[in-house]
Amino acid sequence: LTAAVAAAALLAVSGPAFASCEDGETVIKFSHVVAAKGNPKGEAATLFAERVNKEMNGKVCVEVYPNSQLFDDNKVLEAMLLGDVQLAAPSVSKMEDYSLAFQVFDLPFMFDDIAAVDRFQQSPKGQALLRSVEDKGLLGIGYWHNGMKQMSAKKPLVMPEDAKGLKFRIQPSDILQAQFEALGASPQKLAFKEVYGALQTGVVDGQENTFSNIYTQKFFEVQDGITETNHGIIDYIVVTSAEFWNGLPGDVRTQLETIFAEVTAEKNAQALEINNQAKQKIIDAGKQVRQLTAEQRAAWKAAMKPVWDKFGPNIGDDLIQAAQAASA
Ligand code: LMR
Repeated sequence: LTAAVAAAALLAVSGPAFASCEDGETVIKFSHVVAAKGNPKGEAATLFAERVNKEMNGKVCVEVYPNSQLFDDNKVLEAMLLGDVQLAAPSVSKMEDYSLAFQVFDLPFMFDDIAAVDRFQQSPKGQALLRSVEDKGLLGIGYWHNGMKQMSAKKPLVMPEDAKGLKFRIQPSDILQAQFEALGASPQKLAFKEVYGALQTGVVDGQENTFSNIYTQKFFEVQDGITETNHGIIDYIVVTSAEFWNGLPGDVRTQLETIFAEVTAEKNAQALEINNQAKQKIIDAGKQVRQLTAEQRAAWKAAMKPVWDKFGPNIGDDLIQAAQAASA
């Protein structure tokens, strides 16, 4: 009994969410960096695993590794090409090394809300992006939502000048680097799991992320407050290895795709609510969530405009127009 209890406790702390794969089952390791609960991606990954493990028992077994337990996002796609992991859901911001076209998602103030992001993703151009990394051995099987990005620092951020001279953590992305440089701030590319410590110890002064990530990672605890800027998005591409996916028996792949589509529809529809709940919990914890007036927001937009001029030509007018059309 003691050994079993100890093993269960160890698993609860460090193990995958599901670790009961049987001999003969095709094992799908799904690695991600966020919390298993309170984040739309974490919850979608868990639901996908639960459904596959029940409905495809004996054929396929999904093991979810949340919280950067297995890989950082900057390592996970390399690991996928080596066959060490079969599913990941990096934010689209982390895909620019594989295709610059993904930078369209990070043009500041491109999307009014996640519904607009969804419309773009479902458009022919958005769907084509899923297949744009196949020549690199990767296949996007769909998009999962998180939400709009908010900004915070160790001091109040109201006007873009308030960010000047501050160090901000960014995801590893050149376009996000340019965004903070346009504000006169100093961006630092850091892995997600390092952000809390970096904010706490002053390695960086501020950050940008969704309410669900700010709450579940406790970033708000070590910041002055949050400013509801809605200046960008964190959204995900669910990626697999093209070799692995295309090598699955057709009926197995079809069943996985059906479950995936249903889980995607269910959890994407909850993403906004999950972020709103996180925002409320931050307020309940006593932190201020600042609203911007239309004029203040326009000032942030104008300050970030140089990013469009610098990155637009590489992204391409047709892609930018398709994304803009989704917000119109
Ligand atoms: C980040 O690094 O801030 C995000 O991409 C984390 C995530 O997966 O939401």
